[in-house]
Amino acid sequence: MLKTAFMTEKQIVIGNWKMNGLLESSEVLVGAVVAHKAACEVAVCPPFSLLFPVRQWLAGSTVHLGAQNCHSQESGAFTGDISAAQLKDMGCAYVIVGHSERRQLHGERDELVSAKAAAAIAHGLVPVICVGETLEEREASKALAVVEAQLRGSIPESAKTAQFLLAYEPVWAIGSGLAASEGDIASMHAHIITTVQAMHGSAPRVLYGGSVKADNAPAILGIKGVGGVLVGGASLKAKEFCGIIDAAKG
Ligand code: PGA
Repeated sequence: MLKTAFMTEKQIVIGNWKMNGLLESSEVLVGAVVAHKAACEVAVCPPFSLLFPVRQWLAGSTVHLGAQNCHSQESGAFTGDISAAQLKDMGCAYVIVGHSERRQLHGERDELVSAKAAAAIAHGLVPVICVGETLEEREASKALAVVEAQLRGSIPESAKTAQFLLAYEPVWAIGSGLAASEGDIASMHAHIITTVQAMHGSAPRVLYGGSVKADNAPAILGIKGVGGVLVGGASLKAKEFCGIIDAAKG
């Protein structure tokens, strides 16, 4: 069985490649990540097309494999979809669910996100359940309420906190180059931890995501309540990603 972040107190750095990566450049990127000595937990989430080769390149390393989405159903007539069982079969330890790009571009709602997370857990994967407010919601002082509602709707009721990770990703911070402030991250993470602890009995691990780079990673990873980071753009550049890994606690 793969040893995931739950079995340790280590921070976790997860790379979300999104719809990026071709064979040749990805092999070089994975090679650099594997060769980099990491004290923290590390995972990479390539697109489905690269899961198999990346799994081969990761063989023998401590870097975990993850995916960016899964279907809520076991199998069947769902053209173009991939099930949690298939991801597990491919060697994945993690799957991102409810990313704001899925919520916004594919109309995924909390209920579906919860069903996907439940499917992931049922197949021994750790879902990385993403939540986060839009700029409009933050400006209207609704950020805490919006995220709390997402948590209530997106985490399967029966899930234990050790079975999932959360990622707080303010929508306006994703890919914008503008990470949330340290104060906003600290207060949102505290709110998430308190809310989920009341719902599920123990404190969850919460990652921050949104314009994390090697230069802001030490400050972000130093904030109380930040259990790791979910990294988009910077996970495609070996030097940046390795710099973030260096900033995470082992
Ligand atoms: P970013 O993306 O690091 O490019 O802002 C983060 C994410 O979408 O997970």
